[in-house]
Amino acid sequence: MATVPQRDIQREAAQAESHWSPSEPTFTEQNYPDLTGKTFVVTGGYTGIGYEVSRLLANQNACAESAIARLQEGNKSAIFDFAELDLADLTTIKSGAQYITSRYAKIHGIVTNAGVMAPPVGSRSKQGYELQLATNVLGHQLLQHFLDPVIIDTAKNEPANTLRTIWSKCLNVYQSYLWGINHPDSQVVSVAVHPGYLQTELARYMSAQVIQQRVSNRSLFPPLYGAYTELYALLSPDVTTADLGDYYIPWGTKGYLRNDIYESRDGPIAEKIDKWIQEQIGPYK
Ligand SMILES: NC(=O)c1ccc[n+]([C@@H]2O[C@H](COP(=O)([O-])OP(=O)(O)OC[C@H]3O[C@@H](n4cnc5c(N)ncnc54)[C@H](OP(=O)(O)O)[C@@H]3O)[C@@H](O)[C@H]2O)c1
Repeated sequence: MATVPQRDIQREAAQAESHWSPSEPTFTEQNYPDLTGKTFVVTGGYTGIGYEVSRLLANQNACAESAIARLQEGNKSAIFDFAELDLADLTTIKSGAQYITSRYAKIHGIVTNAGVMAPPVGSRSKQGYELQLATNVLGHQLLQHFLDPVIIDTAKNEPANTLRTIWSKCLNVYQSYLWGINHPDSQVVSVAVHPGYLQTELARYMSAQVIQQRVSNRSLFPPLYGAYTELYALLSPDVTTADLGDYYIPWGTKGYLRNDIYESRDGPIAEKIDKWIQEQIGPYK
């Protein structure tokens, strides 16, 4: 049986605490490259952090495959498109992905940003999985599977390290690493992020009292700052394939990856995770 590596709880807590007072972001819209002709897929691109990511990408002239009218009003010349899929229903992912791949021959980056947090106990996806696991992990893994051929093909004719797929959260950290291991010659950078503590709709399932307990007297940051974290991972020249599976924290610095995750990424625990995820999504490919 695989032994689970020890966690360094103090170091984890210190990093989590540091998210309440990160340094000012240094990689922002002034530093982003021109993205004319580039296409990015942003899940959950019409609210919260994903909205800001889509907006900032479009301001650099990219096509953001995610969004709706509010974004279009803010930038009339940008191309926004909307692929309809429910990450919590594996039967909808293929058609949503096919909508994207039939319209866009190239994809230059994927931000698997959408997610839910702490839904009511007992919440289930259409296939009966716990809702958070289904939405944040399985739905995205299947979507990524359908987009793989396009992003990997796009990478063949683009400068090294410019194509990326960005993940977040604990299991997503394994996914970010395993994706690179499973696609060793892709030249696509796959890394994970913790966007920060942001004032978004993510806490919709939590009571005001629970939110107050978690936040205490501190202030959540505007969602724009979460976009700075995700876009650091997506666009910074400092992030390369050598950083496979690494973890970026507010507002765009390399974070400390929990040592139990770090140490188990190449062993039987990761293999078990990978096998289980592949088995769940297999029937929907
Ligand atoms: N806010 C924070 O402090 C914080 C901290 C750590 C990590 N994060 C992560 O950052 C990401 C963005 O969150 P946010 O703060 O911007 O929250 P948000 O405002 O609630 O946005 C989440 C997005 O995910 C979409 N989504 C949820 N379930 C979906 C489904 N089944 N299919 C398709 N889309 C779905 C939502 O769409 P609908 O509105 O249509 O449901 C929404 O657009 C999440 O992955 C979250 O876990 C956020």
